[in-house]
Amino acid sequence: MVGFKAIANAAFAATVLSAPTQQEKRQAPEGVPDYVLKYAPIVYLHSQDPYLPSDFQTHLTHTTPKVGFNAVSGPSPLTLDNLSQLGSDVYLTSNDDVTTNPSWIKGVRPDSSGKTNDAITSAIIVNDKGSGNVDAFYFYFYTYNWGGLVAGLKDLNFGNHVGDWEHNMIRFSNGVPQHVWYSQHANGQAFQYKVTEKHTDNLRPIAYSANGSHAQYAIGGTHDHTIPNLNLPFGVLEDYTERGILYDPLLAAYYYKFDAAANSFTPYQEGTPTSYLDFAGRWGDEEYPTSDKRQVKIFGQAKFSSGPTGPRDKQLNRVNVCPDNGKECILRGILVPRRVEDDEVVREADEVA
Ligand SMILES: *[C@@H]1O[C@H](CO)[C@@H](O)[C@H](O)[C@H]1NC(C)=O
Ligand SMILES: *[C@@H]1O[C@H](CO)[C@@H](O)[C@H](O)[C@H]1NC(C)=O
Repeated sequence: MVGFKAIANAAFAATVLSAPTQQEKRQAPEGVPDYVLKYAPIVYLHSQDPYLPSDFQTHLTHTTPKVGFNAVSGPSPLTLDNLSQLGSDVYLTSNDDVTTNPSWIKGVRPDSSGKTNDAITSAIIVNDKGSGNVDAFYFYFYTYNWGGLVAGLKDLNFGNHVGDWEHNMIRFSNGVPQHVWYSQHANGQAFQYKVTEKHTDNLRPIAYSANGSHAQYAIGGTHDHTIPNLNLPFGVLEDYTERGILYDPLLAAYYYKFDAAANSFTPYQEGTPTSYLDFAGRWGDEEYPTSDKRQVKIFGQAKFSSGPTGPRDKQLNRVNVCPDNGKECILRGILVPRRVEDDEVVREADEVA
């Protein structure tokens, strides 16, 4: 009996030792607060979305820094370690005509575990504000944003651009998730963590990524895609989301601490590139002039717009869960789709920050 027990104990110890910890499974470096991983959003991409999460460095490899559509000198090769040597006026401009759909703009399809293999497609940035208040930002990068069709008409396709940074932000209080921000075009929506739809572990909130635009929504289905200052006479632009392809950003991320006072990023793991986060220019082509045969402009809306700035411009030290943009920050207490007409409606379950 003694012998059996010893063997059983040894087998038990071996199982415990060889089982990967949650941290190992997620490949997160040491020091990242456990709750930042435990409650990290899990993303559902649309099954028809041709433009999947993209590797940061691959994007640099296929673009040229340009100002006024002319190449400018800069570090060569351009890497995630030296990108910030470029000025804020720079547009990382595609080397290929994006209307030909070169394969690199389509990103990487996550495998069955949700991992984008051999591709770093996410940056997770933790802003510890002290006294147990922590904002964790989960950024997702896509090389291409397809803007969708107004009223489903193929000639009314606006807002395509190279480079697309989307994010969720979870506000924690003493390690407990309070609210979740979902970025959507120029703005987004905030929900109380407790009402968000959860992954199979009952912990991780689900973010639904819209087909092509990658706007993040708390529920699946159809959402209005509001274009600021645009009142089209013929219907709205819609975002389509569904439980399509599972994407787990934790499996392909770099992790950083953000120091708001110094406006600086420190990686949790030595050797992780950081310079790209300090780049103040645009991650895609400048809006093509109407003399460019690819461009179409109707009602002031361009078919191809300029690429966005990076994570540093997403108000990483915001006061409210919503970025400060002059609008009321409604912390939704029930799950609702985005609708232009009830964007400012406060329901009983909601809180206003
Ligand atoms: C998804 O986007 C692709 C192209 O970007 C388009 O061809 C397809 O029709 C879209 N599907 C839906 C449901 O919007
Ligand atoms: C850019 O980064 C690469 C490696 O990351 C390096 O080889 C190259 O020298 C850098 N260029 C400059 C100008 O710093």
